[in-house]
Amino acid sequence: MIPHRRITTKNSMGWSSNTLNELSEMFVDFCKPGHTVLDIGAAMGVASLPALAAGAIVHANDASAEHLKQLATLVPEESKQRLILHPGRFPKDLKLPPDSIDAVHASNVFHFLTGRQLELGALLLHRILRPQGRLFVIAATPYMAPFSSFIPEFESSQSQWPGWIENTRRVSQHRLLDQLPKSILLLDDRVLRRVFADTGFIVEKCWMFRRRDLPQSIHWDGRENVALIAHKA
Ligand SMILES: C[S@@+](CC[C@H](N)C(=O)[O-])C[C@H]1O[C@@H](n2cnc3c(N)ncnc32)[C@H](O)[C@@H]1O
Repeated sequence: MIPHRRITTKNSMGWSSNTLNELSEMFVDFCKPGHTVLDIGAAMGVASLPALAAGAIVHANDASAEHLKQLATLVPEESKQRLILHPGRFPKDLKLPPDSIDAVHASNVFHFLTGRQLELGALLLHRILRPQGRLFVIAATPYMAPFSSFIPEFESSQSQWPGWIENTRRVSQHRLLDQLPKSILLLDDRVLRRVFADTGFIVEKCWMFRRRDLPQSIHWDGRENVALIAHKA
């Protein structure tokens, strides 16, 4: 087994990894030769590279063109023509035809959107997925050590986006926050399920858990991540 290693992003958007988390592994297992898939927030290719190795055509999107440039250098010659790079911010910069994608993977990126961007993103994904196309999402919840003082506010909030924190320094001085943007949209199973169900997705499973590559310093109560698997009818 490859030892887990964190890879810092070049734009203070957290870190990526050299090994797949549980949800990313499910996405890669879904990828088959002839499938066309989209990896949102692909970073240096932790999931895009195994998806290519599985034979899929991979559209890799990331807000950092530098991340994607690095990803391109890691692709074996024989897979190069199956990788299409989409530098730019999801959802506003991503252009793909309707009904063209078999599976979408978004690992540790949706908490960097606003609520409105997430809603628009869900609509875009519903449009570009083929019928029966699958969606694999994993994101951060408030149930992480750096956000523990925010949990009571989150749980009692009546807001549509209870996990929106305009300035994370208001709730925590944890050193991890130096590696994140100032604002964050923490999600849970209730909010994530609502966004995708309201967009017309059939939500197969939505649950909170602790992903295996999460650093120990931010462990809280076993609900540190939220994952969703859904499909377009
Ligand atoms: C925490 S890293 C996760 C990378 C990888 N998916 C993983 O699971 O390890 C987040 C990545 O999402 C990208 N990102 C952040 N906001 C984005 C957006 N709105 N559109 C596209 N990419 C974005 C960042 O540049 C960064 O590469």
